[in-house]
Amino acid sequence: MYVLVLGSAAGGGFPQWNCNCTMCAGVRDGTLKARPRTQSSIAVSCNRTDWLLINASPDIRTQLNAHPLMQPGRAVRDTGVRAVMLADSQIDHTTGLLILRESRTPLELYCTDSVHEDLSTGFPVLNMLSHYCGVQRHVLACDGPATTVAGVEGLQVTAVALSSKAPPYSPHRNAPAAGDNIGLFIEDSTNGSRLFYAPGLGQFEPHLIPFCQQADCLLVDGTCWTDDEMARRGVGTRLASQMGHLAQSGPGGMIEQLARFPQARRILIHINNTNPILDENSQERAVLTEQGIEVAFDGMLLNL
Ligand code: MLT
Ligand code: MN
Ligand code: ZN
Repeated sequence: MYVLVLGSAAGGGFPQWNCNCTMCAGVRDGTLKARPRTQSSIAVSCNRTDWLLINASPDIRTQLNAHPLMQPGRAVRDTGVRAVMLADSQIDHTTGLLILRESRTPLELYCTDSVHEDLSTGFPVLNMLSHYCGVQRHVLACDGPATTVAGVEGLQVTAVALSSKAPPYSPHRNAPAAGDNIGLFIEDSTNGSRLFYAPGLGQFEPHLIPFCQQADCLLVDGTCWTDDEMARRGVGTRLASQMGHLAQSGPGGMIEQLARFPQARRILIHINNTNPILDENSQERAVLTEQGIEVAFDGMLLNL
């Protein structure tokens, strides 16, 4: 299985347009050893030609143009993207659907019922797309049987519910539903490799453990180093946990949790611009390296 990281930052990207926190200012003026990053998205393929796009970020146009693999060039209009799957209905994961409106065929879209509801009501991008390419929607059932993906041979995907909160514009914002946010357990039936991808992982709930134990690679939530990071940087008051993210440091944090799965390659993704691990010379980054945990970057290509 090939996994191409199209965007490794959380919502806002790195640097964020209106932010002058130490990290954003440092990458902007070149005083920090750090790579700029676009917003959260990956593409998965078994043959490097037919790709499943997972999450469609506002940066999708730049991301697809940055990677020749995503444009096979077989016809005057062509793309490597055969289907799109969504982990949630957040702006950073769904706005890119509008950018794909020039598609020659309806977008093959895999999402849960609660994400489908949000994208038809509070953030009605699917209604809007019906005036352009339209979508062919496929139901992703949480914890249901694995699904295959139209046009992407060899992939088997299982959606795993993550406890979280729907976005502010969701009609069920205050009535959390299974399917608001999911992790994806993806198996390549051609070579048996397995990926668990969960950019919005708030807690290691017991039902996730068997998936993590079977995975060859865990590509998981790297949003914040500390729960109160936004406040520490002076850019907000919300805790990482209130946004559905598990901070890396401290007791019960992501570093400690990942140590339970030594069989897997462990990589952090969806990294917020406030996170000190973006600085390649930081102590926090050194701690990750010592623990064998990698930090995803735009353009990272995994061959599992
Ligand atoms: C999140 O996952 O918490 C988002 O990145 C927030 C956002 O996009 O505004
Ligand atoms: Mn996000
Ligand atoms: Zn910042």
